[in-house]
Amino acid sequence: MFGRRGLRGSLLLKGSLAVAGCAALMPQHTHSASVPEALTLPQVGLGLWKSKPGEVGEAVKTALRSGYQLLDGAAAYSNEIEVGQALAECIAQSIVMRDDVVVVSKLFNTHHVWQGDRSRPAAALAKTLADLQLEYLDLYLMHWPLAFEQTDMAAIGGLRLENGTPNPKLVMEFEYLETWREMLALKRQGKARHLGVCNFTVPTRTLGPVRYPHVPDRRGARPQISSPSPA
Ligand SMILES: NC(=O)c1ccc[n+]([C@@H]2O[C@H](COP(=O)([O-])OP(=O)(O)OC[C@H]3O[C@@H](n4cnc5c(N)ncnc54)[C@H](OP(=O)(O)O)[C@@H]3O)[C@@H](O)[C@H]2O)c1
Repeated sequence: MFGRRGLRGSLLLKGSLAVAGCAALMPQHTHSASVPEALTLPQVGLGLWKSKPGEVGEAVKTALRSGYQLLDGAAAYSNEIEVGQALAECIAQSIVMRDDVVVVSKLFNTHHVWQGDRSRPAAALAKTLADLQLEYLDLYLMHWPLAFEQTDMAAIGGLRLENGTPNPKLVMEFEYLETWREMLALKRQGKARHLGVCNFTVPTRTLGPVRYPHVPDRRGARPQISSPSPA
């Protein structure tokens, strides 16, 4: 068994770069006696995007057996159940201890606060934790600064049509502040040790929660513009 700190820096294993395009936000300094520890990310991690059903579990087990100490997943990768099974197996077999793995997941656009419905972020994290068979995440990231009205992408035929154009049924708005507030509450509840964001541009960070009604083929906030699918 490897302690996380003991192994860090000596890994030469090849794997996908995790937490690409994300910023982990440092916990705020408080006056309480216990100041939360800053998050230190291992230099090598296993990225779980596009990792297929029937393969992702084996990849996780192989990675953890090989000394990987970071799993970068997301609800939108649609593989958290299998990742959770593999991680649970490795913990049960003492291949790793829970505290030796930095587990990252991401809150997808389907579960931002939507028009006053503040229940969605908590529901998303509850599902992610249940799927991963965990009590807490080490890092919970807001995947995009966008909220979708639809909570079920499959029900509307996915993000894109078969010809690759954005799905006109998708209704979205540019939103992150209210969702961030809910994420802070989840952190206070101990369900995520650290929070962060992904796919924020510098202009995004300077704007308030402006609404962008979805108009196909016109200017709008579309995740497809900067990435072919939700990475
Ligand atoms: N937060 C976000 O919005 C966001 C966005 C993008 C990515 N990510 C995270 O970053 C990860 C990597 O994404 P990426 O865009 O960097 O992917 P990428 O460019 O496709 O890189 C994947 C890496 O994994 C390696 N790889 C793929 N299959 C492999 C296999 N079977 N065995 C060993 N190595 C293999 C590739 O090696 P080769 O170069 O040799 O092919 C490459 O180095 C994702 O899985 C996800 O966790 C997050």
